[in-house]
Amino acid sequence: MSSSVVVAMDGPSGSGKSSTSRGVARRLGLRYLDTGAQFRAITLWMLRHDVDIHDPAAVAAQAETPVLVSGTDPAAPTITVDGDDVADPIRSAEVTAAVSPVATVPAVRTRLLELQRSIIADALAAGTGIVVEGRDIGSVVWPDAAVKLYLTADAAARAARRTAENGSGSAAATEADLLRRDAIDSSRTTAPLVVPDGAVHLDTTPYGLDEVIDRVVAIVERESVGS
Ligand code: DC
Repeated sequence: MSSSVVVAMDGPSGSGKSSTSRGVARRLGLRYLDTGAQFRAITLWMLRHDVDIHDPAAVAAQAETPVLVSGTDPAAPTITVDGDDVADPIRSAEVTAAVSPVATVPAVRTRLLELQRSIIADALAAGTGIVVEGRDIGSVVWPDAAVKLYLTADAAARAARRTAENGSGSAAATEADLLRRDAIDSSRTTAPLVVPDGAVHLDTTPYGLDEVIDRVVAIVERESVGS
């Protein structure tokens, strides 16, 4: 396997993308980029600066303002906005509820697309591959990725995982929230959640994390031969 492989990992919320992507990157010595964290960080900035997140023009007007920095070490990924470490607050319920509408705004997507492509290009220039997770990585951000994966899981399994991670809340309410976000992410005009051409589809419902990582590592090794 080439060390400068790009692995595009797409799928809906709770499909196991984040834990799988980090685990695969660690196992294979690749960098790791969580693009959802970048959308969350922009959303947090909008909320903190009293931008009406349901007004696309107001969001678009500020899309370029926040200074975002993503650290790509899979053992300790970081994200800062205007120099502040926002790794914890971007996971709050308030940000989770607000992020899908912000992610539909084309100016936000264009801004992050440029940032994401430059982070991938830097990794390749350094001779290091990268695992990039999101909703539009194999379709829009890096369509030439040597390896494209699309992870899914049953809605009930996804909700159970999220509820366990959060340590509170009802699985039924979490499932309703996941389905609401899936609907927004899949139906937006710009870069909707789709199964990218050429992606390997993996349903993670029956597997634990270690088994999903094993399977994805095997797929990456198989798909990236010669790249
Ligand atoms: O993966 P996540 O739940 O942290 O993603 C947060 C939101 O960001 C989710 O509603 C979809 C959006 N997103 C996106 O539109 N495109 C991406 N590449 C990554 C995330």
